Amino acid sequence: MSSVDRIVGDVKELGLAEKGKRKIEWANQQMPVLQLIRKRFIKEQPLKGIRISACLHVTSETANLAITLRDGGADVVLCGSNPLSTQDEVAASLVKDYGIPTYAIKGEDNETYYAHIASALDHKPQITMDDGADLVTSLVTKRKDLIPYVIGSTEETTTGVIRLRAMAKDGTLKFPVIAVNDALTKHLFDNRYGTGQSTLDGIIRATNLLLAGLKVVVAGYGWCGRGIAMRAKGLGADVIVTEIDPVKGIEAVMDGYRVMPMAEAAKEGDVFITVTGNKSVIRSEHFQAMKSGAIVCNSGHFNVEIDIPALEKLSSGKREARPLVDEYQLKDGRKIYLLGEGRLVNLAMAEGHPAAVMDMSFANQALCAEYVVKHAKDLRCEVYGVPENIDKEIARLKLDSMGHHLDKLTAEQEHYLASWQEGT
Ligand SMILES: NC(=O)c1ccc[n+]([C@@H]2O[C@H](COP(=O)([O-])OP(=O)(O)OC[C@H]3O[C@@H](n4cnc5c(N)ncnc54)[C@H](O)[C@@H]3O)[C@@H](O)[C@H]2O)c1
Repeated sequence: MSSVDRIVGDVKELGLAEKGKRKIEWANQQMPVLQLIRKRFIKEQPLKGIRISACLHVTSETANLAITLRDGGADVVLCGSNPLSTQDEVAASLVKDYGIPTYAIKGEDNETYYAHIASALDHKPQITMDDGADLVTSLVTKRKDLIPYVIGSTEETTTGVIRLRAMAKDGTLKFPVIAVNDALTKHLFDNRYGTGQSTLDGIIRATNLLLAGLKVVVAGYGWCGRGIAMRAKGLGADVIVTEIDPVKGIEAVMDGYRVMPMAEAAKEGDVFITVTGNKSVIRSEHFQAMKSGAIVCNSGHFNVEIDIPALEKLSSGKREARPLVDEYQLKDGRKIYLLGEGRLVNLAMAEGHPAAVMDMSFANQALCAEYVVKHAKDLRCEVYGVPENIDKEIARLKLDSMGHHLDKLTAEQEHYLASWQEGT
């Protein structure tokens, strides 16, 4: 095969490949669990000949997942799952150095974004991997002809799982999906510690703010919100939480935060972070109450959590104050700053989650792809959780890799726990 034949995909600039390769190798060092899986995959070839189309954030960590799948025998094609999250140098290296066709360019417009998804679908995938369900949604609406090829799918994030469950409910889902997000070794760590750290990393890189002493409003106290609130508090911020669920609300109060509706928080906050998976969480009435200089950003999956059209309506002008920091000049003279066009701030303004946490998330993806191949015939068109043995194995491997070791039950303890007659 000539080098020209190997250049397949649509990336910004193949000349960036060397920088991307170094980035991929750096991330690989922090991904020991995925490394072990890759070693076994090379030997056993569990994905031999399987066509996989993956629609994921094209980062150095994702590159290591794609390489692992390829080394397991799969024929892998990758496209971006968000127009702003692609690392162009990584995309270039995937094409040039690893021969993995990649369709993703940072800053691509909506039309290109969906054209890239269409290219990934042209691969006629037997397994799809999604982060937000855009690939599956496109497949079942625009490319129904491809449905017979698909044996199963995996989904990375909360919002995607919600969309896929809605599809299963109304009969639109035509193949089984494994909800990787629902693995304990995914959402307890990736959503909480990954989003917690990388969201603040994104805000700080974008603005160079000192968070100590600022009032940071976190909308949504789910797995991601808990992580963001915890890390903002650690940096000295006064954290306010907004919620709609009473259990999450009381949890936030007991964790030491003030809880109030957004209408009240809007008057107090210096920095606002939405992470609910919902829409219009910050809207016109809230912008109207905010202090001049307020910074607004989103770390939930879609860019609908902040009602940007409403902000535009209230504004007389806009300029880029810093890269990807838009200053909206409101008609009443106040200024509001929007980060990363309201898209995932950790991926738009920083590098997304650290590799060490993606190690577990992507170990789940790799093992779930293997599971789909092995068990496709027994699965129905439903959304399944990750099998418990996979979840536990990943936690065990991660602990080992970090040099921590667990106790073992004694025979007496096993008996005690298994018997209803004990316990007195
Ligand atoms: N930035 C990232 O890298 C990243 C990583 C993982 C997940 N996500 C995304 O972040 C979002 C949240 O994920 P999660 O795992 O924390 O979900 P979750 O379901 O655990 O939490 C969401 C929380 O938001 C609350 N909520 C819903 N509507 C609200 C409203 N109007 N006001 C206030 N609170 C509201 C819910 O009650 C819930 O507690 C999803 O879109 C998910 O896909 C982003």
